[in-house]
Amino acid sequence: TVSVPLAAGALPVIGHLHQIARTGLVGQLLEVSRRSPEGIFKLRFGSRVSLFVTDPDLVAELCDETRFRKMPGPGLRVVRKFAGDGLFTAFGDEPNWGKAHRILLPAFSQRAMRGYFEMIVEVCDQLVAKWSRKSGTDVLVADDMTRLTLDSIAIAGFGHRFDSFEREELDSFLQALGRALGEALSTITRLPVQNRFATKAKAQYEADIAEMNALVDGIIADRRVNPTDGRDLLNLMLTAADPETGERLDDVNIRYQVLTFLIAGHETTSGMLTFAFAYLLRNPAVLAQAYAEVDRVLPGDTRPDFAHVARLEVCERVLKEALRLWPTAPAFSLAPFEDEVIGGRWLMKKDRPINVFTPGLHRSSKAWDDPEEFDIDRWLPDAEAARYPHAYKPFGNGERACIGRQFAMVEAKIALAMMLRAFAISDPHAYRLRIKETLSIKPDEFYMRVRLRQPHE
Ligand code: HEM
Repeated sequence: TVSVPLAAGALPVIGHLHQIARTGLVGQLLEVSRRSPEGIFKLRFGSRVSLFVTDPDLVAELCDETRFRKMPGPGLRVVRKFAGDGLFTAFGDEPNWGKAHRILLPAFSQRAMRGYFEMIVEVCDQLVAKWSRKSGTDVLVADDMTRLTLDSIAIAGFGHRFDSFEREELDSFLQALGRALGEALSTITRLPVQNRFATKAKAQYEADIAEMNALVDGIIADRRVNPTDGRDLLNLMLTAADPETGERLDDVNIRYQVLTFLIAGHETTSGMLTFAFAYLLRNPAVLAQAYAEVDRVLPGDTRPDFAHVARLEVCERVLKEALRLWPTAPAFSLAPFEDEVIGGRWLMKKDRPINVFTPGLHRSSKAWDDPEEFDIDRWLPDAEAARYPHAYKPFGNGERACIGRQFAMVEAKIALAMMLRAFAISDPHAYRLRIKETLSIKPDEFYMRVRLRQPHE
């Protein structure tokens, strides 16, 4: 076996942190992965070394669940401070993972999705109303997508109304969350000595966690006082027993799960929608196809229903391709149960996290023709059937893959369709894509002009 090469440019003490400070972590990982034909490399964050993989054949091995399982890396370990052993941040051998997974799966069935649909459409209606009032002006896309996705998961999952469209400011929960996720990222990209002196940032982090917990505790208390009979996420957590052990979730864990779903349930979906709008504006022919589809499937003021979603296949391909170029949760990490060799020569040590860096994987020239091109025809059924295996992993892998992926796709498809039905979108400022990173990624400072469409336009 041979050891994995360290990327060029590491300095004493700080390793690659100076490069990361310049380009952002995702930017740096993309640069290095472009220079790494083997699709495997190491970066040094101060004294800590992290291993990244972008080659689809190596990823295929890592996705073999008999040899590897999810192993939360340093970023997620920081998030555990507020998400604990909630579904996303749990180690696989923590009993609460299996328990919560089994209890909550029914909340993501087709039948359950049908139940959420009307609530999602109502939130989309609110965004249509807001953009109608602003017709002819520019909107900050990521913020409105964040309002939309946060309100949807909160109402569908917990019966909680943020009513984000009624206010100009983002909800203070979102501000606290944005800072907390930013701080989680900073903790891994600062030197230990810098971390030691970041007392102000740490105090803010504690305050932000307290604020998020207060909101969550309020949501739970409210449901206990005003029980409902639906089977949404919160009711399942409060009342359902794990079919395997017969046990229920404890109060601490319920708090972690509610927070986990509020975060995981909106942040990445809003990023995906924002990237989708940015790519539609750069690709007028695709935008025209999307308008044609929307006008065909949802003509006039047809009320969207669940059956329409399956017919929005252009919208779906736009979202899948946006998620290929910019998977909004850009990495996940795995570790072997025992020492393992991958690719016939790279030694992977037992329990040591290995990061699958998906923006790199999704641009692997082994798997994708013209990988930098936004091309929704990659997702036509024939092309998709012939796809290189394990080269597309925006939702992670195996039993730890995203539990909310259908929710995300249903929500994003109907939101995209309803906005395109109502608005002509344009890009008067010729936006140049820049990435804003917290732990997830989204387009930074992207303003888009919206104008109410005229009949027959
Ligand atoms: C897990 C991506 C939307 C809830 C994951 C993972 C990824 C991911 C990559 C695996 C993480 C890992 O292995 O460490 C995304 C993307 C989304 C999205 C790109 C939108 C485009 C959602 C939504 C929900 C959700 C809408 C909830 C309604 C979760 C949860 C987990 C998870 C709870 C942890 C599952 C487990 O380990 O049991 N997601 N997600 N996600 N996602 Fe999503």
